[in-house]
Amino acid sequence: MSFQQNQRYQYNFPTSIRFGRGVIDELGPHLKEQGLKRVLLVSDPGLVKLPVFERVISQIKASGVLVEVFSEIAKNPVKSNVLAGVAHFHKSQCDSIVGFGGGASMDVARAIALKTHHELDLFEYDDAMGGDRFVTGPVPYFVTVPTTSGTGSEVGRSTVISDDTTHEKKILFSPKLMAKKVFADPELTMGLPAMVTATTGMDALTHCVEAYLAKSYSPLCDGVALEGIRLISRSLETATHAPTIESRADMMMGALMGAAAFQKGLGIVHSLAHPLSTVVDMHHGLANAVMIPFGMEFNLPVSGERMRTIASTIGIPNPSAEGFVAWLRELNRKLGIPASLKELKVHENHIARLSDLAILDPCHGSNERPVTRADFETIYKRALA
Ligand SMILES: [Fe+2]
Repeated sequence: MSFQQNQRYQYNFPTSIRFGRGVIDELGPHLKEQGLKRVLLVSDPGLVKLPVFERVISQIKASGVLVEVFSEIAKNPVKSNVLAGVAHFHKSQCDSIVGFGGGASMDVARAIALKTHHELDLFEYDDAMGGDRFVTGPVPYFVTVPTTSGTGSEVGRSTVISDDTTHEKKILFSPKLMAKKVFADPELTMGLPAMVTATTGMDALTHCVEAYLAKSYSPLCDGVALEGIRLISRSLETATHAPTIESRADMMMGALMGAAAFQKGLGIVHSLAHPLSTVVDMHHGLANAVMIPFGMEFNLPVSGERMRTIASTIGIPNPSAEGFVAWLRELNRKLGIPASLKELKVHENHIARLSDLAILDPCHGSNERPVTRADFETIYKRALA
């Protein structure tokens, strides 16, 4: 969308990021410099068993800061995880929080940071109900350390937590929940398995693509999104099949850039993907990867010009919007990602429920081409063929 004379705009790009090989070694000294005494390190149960975790704990301790570990978190974090983390924080008299890991660790760490000094029920802070207005109290010093390159939630301001019984997802949001410092060290991602690299990387790519196509006016986000697309497109295959530190750095930067850019909005692909996680428990990145060619095909009649710019940014020999869609299909094939939902336990009888959820999803609100429930049904059917 072009500049609108009668509109005023708000952009936010303030996160302080340390980026590069070995920046993880600055974490302990940084906490010490802030005058912190005891940090709650929030991570997931798989990560705490890896040697890198021990390395991080030792260097924080070596800086003279005490460490408490909290890792009782589900793959899709639930409210009871957050409350247990808050209890741990208070019981052990921590003064700061580090979210260390992928999206789930970040979400729980950020929600603990919110709840520590806020007395209302956690879901009273639900952004959909205007809960951000209650985020008025102090938030402990909060640092994020990503170990995957996908969600980019290390630079985000929101967290997604589910209800333990209904599994309903709530988004808690406040600018106060942004990390004070991000330590993004691509070396931490060197050992990620190929499929995790591919699917989280496709999530990051989808963020950049959808942000670039989103219809609001934000040249700042457009620039960030396009460069993110360039970095990811040149490195995702290498990072997946024969990782180098350079390709891992591109992916980590691309993920950060995608999350910074999608403050502009997302689009149809995320609205197609979210119901697949709810209905058949599909990994978020995998769902985006499978659906992005279909979502882009739908966008062709309206977003063709912007897609041509993406195609030339990637360096497709014959840069056209259709060429970009074909490139996405080919990329999925090279990454070992299925071309159809049929291979992913989705059946014809799921389509009605998927379409009901997709039309309610807020992401397609910023898609340039308006989407109806019937459109979602047609797209799911095509993806299932
Ligand atoms: Fe995403």
